[in-house]
Amino acid sequence: MSRQVLVNAAAAARMAPSSHNTQPWRFRIVGDTLELHADPRRHLSVIDGERRQLVESGGCALFNARAAVRAMGFADEVEVFPDAEDRDHLATLRVGAPIITDELDRELLRAIPLRRTNRRPFLNRPVSLADSTALIALASRPGVWFGRLDPDQKRRLGRVIDDADRTHHANPVYRAELMHWLVEPGKRRKDGIPLEERAYRLPLPLEKELVRAAPLVMVIGTAGDSPHDWLAAGESLQALLLHATLRHLAAAFLNQALEIPPLRREVMSIIGRGEHPQMVLRLGYPEQPIEHPAPRRSLEDVLLVVD
Ligand SMILES: Cc1cc2nc3c(=O)[nH]c(=O)nc-3n(C[C@H](O)[C@H](O)[C@H](O)COP(=O)(O)O)c2cc1C
Repeated sequence: MSRQVLVNAAAAARMAPSSHNTQPWRFRIVGDTLELHADPRRHLSVIDGERRQLVESGGCALFNARAAVRAMGFADEVEVFPDAEDRDHLATLRVGAPIITDELDRELLRAIPLRRTNRRPFLNRPVSLADSTALIALASRPGVWFGRLDPDQKRRLGRVIDDADRTHHANPVYRAELMHWLVEPGKRRKDGIPLEERAYRLPLPLEKELVRAAPLVMVIGTAGDSPHDWLAAGESLQALLLHATLRHLAAAFLNQALEIPPLRREVMSIIGRGEHPQMVLRLGYPEQPIEHPAPRRSLEDVLLVVD
């Protein structure tokens, strides 16, 4: 019984978002636990030297697995970084006692396959303060904070993102890493970003304009800057994205400035707090849906059952 719950949890986890759609994870069912491991072969060493995005992507997968276990009627018992000797072992999830599932758990599970990164422009329709406040409350975790940007901050952030795009694209090593994960139409790859998402990190004034025009720009940050903080930030991020999906809101990421240390410090000063920004998002009501979801590796590719 708990074996099937864990298989379903891994199936939900593999749908999580990840930087460049690297899906940098491996799952193992060992006895009555599901282990979540980062896959260092899928680490983006150029933009993510510290492994922040690698662990944050793992946090997104962990959130999905936990949501699935609760939606199936069991408590989700989690130990994070259970092995001090193995930094890739991000978490171990155990199926706990039966619980009375609430509607929200079931809704979250329903949202997992519906959520998509939408890099296109959003409608000129505001996101209400009540909605953004509710999203923040639902995504909140100890040590994780959320900043909502005012128009002046958006304008300043747009400039920093523009700087980051130019710096990145002038760097051949960055371009080579990105090209490796951009997938041309017709290629049957189960990872990477479909090339038709043309707005993907183009060094055009476009991203800057998208930030300025976005109904809501949010920064997720953490009080510390350790792997524990990154995992928590990933869980919060995925909670926010799934609750946004349930409210018909779309989200896109603008993390390029956070990948260049001096620009990350500029982002900190724009938000006016000295702590650690982990994620920049714009949210709004989509003009166009994303018809073709980004691919995923199959469950067999990522799950090992150890008896
Ligand atoms: C930690 C993290 C960082 C990301 N950073 C960016 C980014 O800077 N720009 C971007 O366009 N997408 C970014 N993404 C979104 C991924 O590219 C996206 O999740 C992946 O391509 C899978 O597509 P999907 O979200 O539609 O399932 C990020 C995702 C995660 C989890």
